[in-house]
Amino acid sequence: MPAKQDQFELQAADFGEEFVWGVSTAAFQIEGAHNLHNKGTSIWDEFTAKKGNTYKDQHAEEACDFYNRYKEDILLMKRMNIGHFRFSLSWTRLLPNGTGELNALGVEFYDKVIDFCLECGIEPWVTLYHWDLPLALEKKGGWANRKIVEWFEEYARVCANSFGDRVKNWMVLNEPMVFTGAGYFLGVHAPGKKGLGNFLPAVHHAVLCQAAGGRILRKWVAGANIGTTFSCSQISPYRNTAKDHRAAEKADAMLNRLFIEPLLGMGYPMDSVPVLKRMQEYILPGDLERSVFNFDFIGLQNYTREKVKHSYFVPYLRAKIVKASKRKVKTTLMDWEVYPASIYNMIKKFNSYKAIGKIIITENGAAFEDVYRQGKIVDTDRLHYLQSYIRQIHRAKQEGCRVDGYFVWTFTDNFEWAEGYYPRFGLVYVDFSSQKRTVKLSGKWYSKFLKG
Ligand code: BGC
Repeated sequence: MPAKQDQFELQAADFGEEFVWGVSTAAFQIEGAHNLHNKGTSIWDEFTAKKGNTYKDQHAEEACDFYNRYKEDILLMKRMNIGHFRFSLSWTRLLPNGTGELNALGVEFYDKVIDFCLECGIEPWVTLYHWDLPLALEKKGGWANRKIVEWFEEYARVCANSFGDRVKNWMVLNEPMVFTGAGYFLGVHAPGKKGLGNFLPAVHHAVLCQAAGGRILRKWVAGANIGTTFSCSQISPYRNTAKDHRAAEKADAMLNRLFIEPLLGMGYPMDSVPVLKRMQEYILPGDLERSVFNFDFIGLQNYTREKVKHSYFVPYLRAKIVKASKRKVKTTLMDWEVYPASIYNMIKKFNSYKAIGKIIITENGAAFEDVYRQGKIVDTDRLHYLQSYIRQIHRAKQEGCRVDGYFVWTFTDNFEWAEGYYPRFGLVYVDFSSQKRTVKLSGKWYSKFLKG
């Protein structure tokens, strides 16, 4: 049954006038132009060039060609009443070697994007780091090398000084748990490293960079609204047994607490996950203080919930995520459970940290099979997904939680990392052979919702 767009009972105005509505993207996933105009090589350029790393060996050399089509895309945003656009800066477009010489053509590109957003009445929200580390820095150890703090500070200063006169909303890191966990422990994302010996220092250095980046932005951008983002998922025990409860507690500490608690001066959740005590090796005197920064907002990115069971076979944690496909629940193409209450529970959880000023949902969305038929994409599943999650945000807000914004992941279909182009998350369909954009039913609904 095709859904009626108007069945949704809420209006944007129900969230208050100050509430920010937007869309989220990331440089590597949309820009393409991978080696144009002096851009340096990032770890994702290298990772995707190697066979076997991505779905059907797909890469992002062209992606959505945002580099050349940014005007068309921003104009479409404007037509869709989207007032806030979150995108990331490509470190290697600005500093091709990670540090040192600034690439004027890279600065020019982001100048044009930012100026065009402002011309169209769209507020830019800029993420400094969305996973595309310069390869030159990875060759020196990347996130596992403590020098990353200096490199990152230099990069943050360059961004602040180049764009801080026009960009007021900033985010330091995108989902540090994902880039350290998938990139430095499991090896399924760039740079493909594995093991605790890579993961633990990468975590600690990311914690130091998240606070250091905040301080740099505070110092160099007058009147900035500064945040950083975290992936988070409600964690429930698979069975109601003591062992599964314990496993869920450990998974929760790793997936939801590992990066926020040191930022708030609470240190790492070592009591819940004893193996984290090995982090001591990388922690220098003064680091716990250095990890603290008072962000204006915390960006939460929620898609699903996880059920976790005890398992002897998982080293260190003894906890295992039970795949959604094995649980007979409704799933997205990523095999993520559709579970709207997860976003409500995560807002509640983070809201209970008294030191957090406000929360913005900086990503939420879903990949479903989209069929392009006679010029139309009727993506009812995505429409219902977005509406049901937005409803839960409203519920949290009604109950007094400080949640002040929502960004859909994502604007156009794009390159979904190791999954390639197969999972489509966009409000706008992209035919990657012609780069033609078609607004999906969900996009039409979002646009109408924002207008209303
Ligand atoms: C990331 C995005 C990604 C999305 C969907 C988030 O983890 O920030 O880059 O495309 O989730 O997987």
